[in-house]
Amino acid sequence: MSKKEIFIIEEASLPSLRLTDEANYLASDYLNKAIDSEQKEKTKSFLYKFRLQILDYIKSEGIVVIENFPCNSDSENVLNKIGSVIGIPIKYEHQYALIMDITPDINNAGDLPGYNSSERFDLHTDLSFVENPPDIVCLYVVRQDINHDAESLFCNPEKILFRLDKSLLEELQLANYLFKSPEYFQGIIDIRHSVISKSEEKYHVRFRKDMMQSLTWKSYLTAEYFWNEIQENAIEYMPKENSLIFINNKTSMHGRSKFESSHDRNNDRLLKRLYINLDIKRRDNGL
Ligand SMILES: [Fe+2]
Repeated sequence: MSKKEIFIIEEASLPSLRLTDEANYLASDYLNKAIDSEQKEKTKSFLYKFRLQILDYIKSEGIVVIENFPCNSDSENVLNKIGSVIGIPIKYEHQYALIMDITPDINNAGDLPGYNSSERFDLHTDLSFVENPPDIVCLYVVRQDINHDAESLFCNPEKILFRLDKSLLEELQLANYLFKSPEYFQGIIDIRHSVISKSEEKYHVRFRKDMMQSLTWKSYLTAEYFWNEIQENAIEYMPKENSLIFINNKTSMHGRSKFESSHDRNNDRLLKRLYINLDIKRRDNGL
């Protein structure tokens, strides 16, 4: 199956795609209205290929951005449907909703980075402090900030890890780090874990610098070295409105630069976020 069957690949430093006209038509049909029986088989086949291609990109690149994704005003419904096509949408116990608004909260008095802040949010993996973080972070860009300052950051550490000194790599694989939960995740106990773990020949990463503590001097120095390498290899990009973004939360790190909040909820930067886990029963092309 050629990658161009569904997607047209755009020139960019990231796998930036748009749907072919036919795929766009089928996706719009599926997402925005009831499907008549004539279209049913075509749509089913489209969704199957769409899922495999997305998982293929997420596995090989760590990220995929689909620009101009067909979506009516009900982006939450669309995100939910897409989540179910790709895997299983998942809500963690302490999340207030399955689909979260990523937007500055005017009541957020602190300056801690987070989904509800406009402060710089350094490269991290999501939910580093839970035993089983989500496989995929799916974001839909509803609105960018008015000044277009909020650049997204992305890094796939795979290449860094393969060229890292053996002793440093071994150190990162020791459970010498304490991952702390933010205040709003009350009741979750901090967990002790490694930064890197290996699964099916892939390196999995768990990292959030402002919420972790190294338990030995050596683990601290190693994490600092790793962090410098990550930052040097980060990609900055400005996702356009109506982009759908899938991030492999097991192998890649993401973040966002600081931006100016408009302090107006109807006008501020707004992304919709859904966590997706892979469906092990459909893990024919899993991560
Ligand atoms: Fe995040």
